[in-house]
Amino acid sequence: MSAALVEAERLRKVYALPRERLTAPAPQVVAVDGVSFTLQAGRSLAVVGESGSGKSTLARLVMALEPPTAGRILQSGRDLAALSPGELRRARADFQMVFQDPYGSLDPRRTVGWTIAEPLSALTDAGRAEQRERVAEMLAQVGLRAADAEKYPHEFSGGQRQRIAIARALITRPKLIVADEPVSALDVSVQAQVLNLMRELEARFGVTYLLISHDLAVVNYVAAEIAVMYRGRIVEQAPTRALFDRPAHPYTRALLEAVPKPEPGRTRRRRARAEPAGEIGTGCSFAPRCPFAIDRCRVEAPSLRKLETGHAAACHRAEEVIAG
Ligand SMILES: Nc1ncnc2c1ncn2[C@@H]1O[C@H](COP(=O)(O)OP(=O)(O)O)[C@@H](O)[C@H]1O
Ligand SMILES: [Mg+2]
Repeated sequence: MSAALVEAERLRKVYALPRERLTAPAPQVVAVDGVSFTLQAGRSLAVVGESGSGKSTLARLVMALEPPTAGRILQSGRDLAALSPGELRRARADFQMVFQDPYGSLDPRRTVGWTIAEPLSALTDAGRAEQRERVAEMLAQVGLRAADAEKYPHEFSGGQRQRIAIARALITRPKLIVADEPVSALDVSVQAQVLNLMRELEARFGVTYLLISHDLAVVNYVAAEIAVMYRGRIVEQAPTRALFDRPAHPYTRALLEAVPKPEPGRTRRRRARAEPAGEIGTGCSFAPRCPFAIDRCRVEAPSLRKLETGHAAACHRAEEVIAG
């Protein structure tokens, strides 16, 4: 069997914050706290969780844009941290990224053609003529015109700019695209168009996504698997259908309640409750918010445990959560 596209092993990322006083110890933030997962080619994985749960940090670790504090990450069986600069450059062509803000991630002074071609010129040996040809092809693939290569980002709508960012990410024919909140900045009507495009391209190019979003409704379109993150940890992971049908972690249930349902008379979107600032003690970090919490939850942190094939949750009461 060939190696998984991404293998994350007990990833941890700790950031030191500025000291309040010179003599005080630097406070730390544990952004990612022991995350392990396997991403198989053809099974796009979504990472979902509220703001501050560590999703973007995880994305940067997977892309090797920063090193983990502990743990390691293998891409197609290779540890990127062990590669030479030349090997890393070639490896990067296989792993591309799309960011939330399509305007911020496109250089306003560069033509769209230049921006789309840039990974080709930076990471591969493709010559000018080939670059031009591939740019025209990618523009067509994302529903834009070849002539758009001569224009600048401000001449496009938000949805079109995200199509441009996707064309840029796909031009090296990567195996994996890490998309961090790719549609969060777009109008809801445009979100569906971009997500549909991503799904079409997944099949057409044989690309797999690591899709990051705070919104479960968004990932439903694209993801085969979903990992739910809470305070730097994966608290539930399951195939998409199973997660929607049988959520096993109370936090996943809260997120699902925030997803608008297609029922008449239920048009308002309930938001997941904001996080109270609390001490992280020894127990489950979700216990202070949890309607299922019992005494055990306040003293013993649950580890991720298997409930059924492919479905795991970090909750002492997962069986009751599924049943209730
Ligand atoms: N470069 C950084 N320096 C210090 N703290 C950071 C840095 N990046 C992220 N954090 C902190 O790590 C936590 C997780 O952040 P992030 O990964 O951006 O979460 P998300 O993408 O889910 O909103 C937050 O508390 C954030 O403030
Ligand atoms: Mg983020």
